[in-house]
Amino acid sequence: MNDFIDSKVYLNGEYLPLSEAKISVLDRGFLFGDGVYEVIPSYSGQLFRMQDHLDRLQDSLSKIRLELPYEFDQWMAVLSPLLDPTKDQYIYLQITRGVAAKRDHAFPKHPVPTIFAMCSDIKPFEGVKTGVKALTMEDSRWEMCNVKATTLLANVLLRQQAVEQGCAEAILHRNGYVTEGAASNLFAVIDGILITPEKTAEILPGITRQVILELAQANDFQLSEEIISLEALQIASEIWITSSTREIIPVVELDSEPIGDGIPGPVFHKMNQLFQDYKKSI
Ligand code: PDD
Repeated sequence: MNDFIDSKVYLNGEYLPLSEAKISVLDRGFLFGDGVYEVIPSYSGQLFRMQDHLDRLQDSLSKIRLELPYEFDQWMAVLSPLLDPTKDQYIYLQITRGVAAKRDHAFPKHPVPTIFAMCSDIKPFEGVKTGVKALTMEDSRWEMCNVKATTLLANVLLRQQAVEQGCAEAILHRNGYVTEGAASNLFAVIDGILITPEKTAEILPGITRQVILELAQANDFQLSEEIISLEALQIASEIWITSSTREIIPVVELDSEPIGDGIPGPVFHKMNQLFQDYKKSI
């Protein structure tokens, strides 16, 4: 814990110990959740799919109308000093609309974004071996889920509800169709086909999701990006949740019912191996 408090973070052009990094209470990130973020894994000091993460960051910034014209090399210069090449880690990068003189919902005239980045170790997620439990819940989030916004109260409440019932994730649905997890994308194997909901404003375009789609295509999996009804999910032979910090996690119990044989399935094992090999190859 003390190591973490003393770890070096980046705040607005400076590197300093986490315990000394301070922002104003008038920061719009604090007052309104007016900001966006990225979570970027780094394996042995190599940022994973950095261009994809930066493209998504740029898209999030432009959707919230916040201008920050940083190029790839500028971000590399900011983030690289935080990395330890001997470890697997992830960068948390947050950008807010900065400090305004007065609390006002409308944008300040000349916002100066607050830029914060910190780095944490990736601890292997135990659930990958045995699989995890999940609960389905009505998706109570807003209509811009493709923006990686720091405004995460709905996600927080949904995940907490799942955790309090001994589950690792809340799997969300709208109008009878599944969207994604509270902090993950969703894949299912149904009738031998690997399916994930297509990219719409109802889901975050996950980078892990994208890598899995590419690996599935390159390795001749039967694959489809389409809507998945809640009923179809309930009869899936496999369900996975995917994210940058947990990678691919098999769900073996949904709403207290076993999925498939109640253990991580063969398609998961194959994809997980491909994913681990791919990570090492970059
Ligand atoms: N969350 N969907 C949501 C709502 C997410 O919050 C995340 C990741 C994903 C997966 O995206 P990616 O594969 O690019 O990590 C999908 C991160 C890890 C977080 O909020 O900590």
